[in-house]
Amino acid sequence: MRKKFVAGNWKMNPNYPEALELLKYLNINVPKDHSNVDILICPPFIYLSEAKNIFTRPDIYLGAQNASAYTNGAYTGEISSTMLKSLGIDYAIIGHSERRQYFGESEEVLAKKIKLCLQENITPIFCVGETLEQRNANEQFEIVKKQISGALYDLSIEQIKKIIIAYEPVWAIGTGVNATPQQAQEMHTFIRNMIMNKYDDVVSQNMIILYGGSVKKDNAYELFSMPDIDGGLIGGASLKGEEFVSIIATAMNIVNK
Ligand code: PGA
Repeated sequence: MRKKFVAGNWKMNPNYPEALELLKYLNINVPKDHSNVDILICPPFIYLSEAKNIFTRPDIYLGAQNASAYTNGAYTGEISSTMLKSLGIDYAIIGHSERRQYFGESEEVLAKKIKLCLQENITPIFCVGETLEQRNANEQFEIVKKQISGALYDLSIEQIKKIIIAYEPVWAIGTGVNATPQQAQEMHTFIRNMIMNKYDDVVSQNMIILYGGSVKKDNAYELFSMPDIDGGLIGGASLKGEEFVSIIATAMNIVNK
């Protein structure tokens, strides 16, 4: 049985004092009895070390929003999965649509990043999703298939078991317009079937597939209740402590039902 999973992606927010305040708020207010819901916070790199110190709770996991396609050396401005691991970081978001769109990250680069994360035993949260134009042209399945096959199909069965996929339609990110639970469920089923066809049924049934794109406390219940939606990757709403905690509580209600 898959657990629910609630992840916050802070993106390039907020400033240092605000980050400290939010981390302290989460350390106190994230419910402690969330045994069937995993909780992950992905602040900007520069706050990770502080977050480690502030979180007195091992039940709140920390992740990075990116990791380099290189291991170490002369790559100015980069942060490697080796460095992240040495800090005790266990997750990294890889291939967010903003990385693809603004930083030109290709499937080939993403495949390298994923392999390096896996080498360090960091769980990659691999993001996929179509743009509005692609959905309007009914190309969403083709696009997601290309993203998944391009970056993941070289992985062994042992490696694919460690991957989390996040379906994040680009048109739903930061727009306030979430995919309907039916649209998201349809894509999650499609992704799960892809994994089953390429690997096997057990891997596919155990894979955590998150939905991301304008998840809020008001729509989390209907989205997370869908059979193939295992939780959310949450941007804007993860910057508001109270709202994020309420989304976690929603996931807990669903698993405890
Ligand atoms: P959003 O972002 O919740 O602000 O739409 C989600 C994401 O990009 O991970």
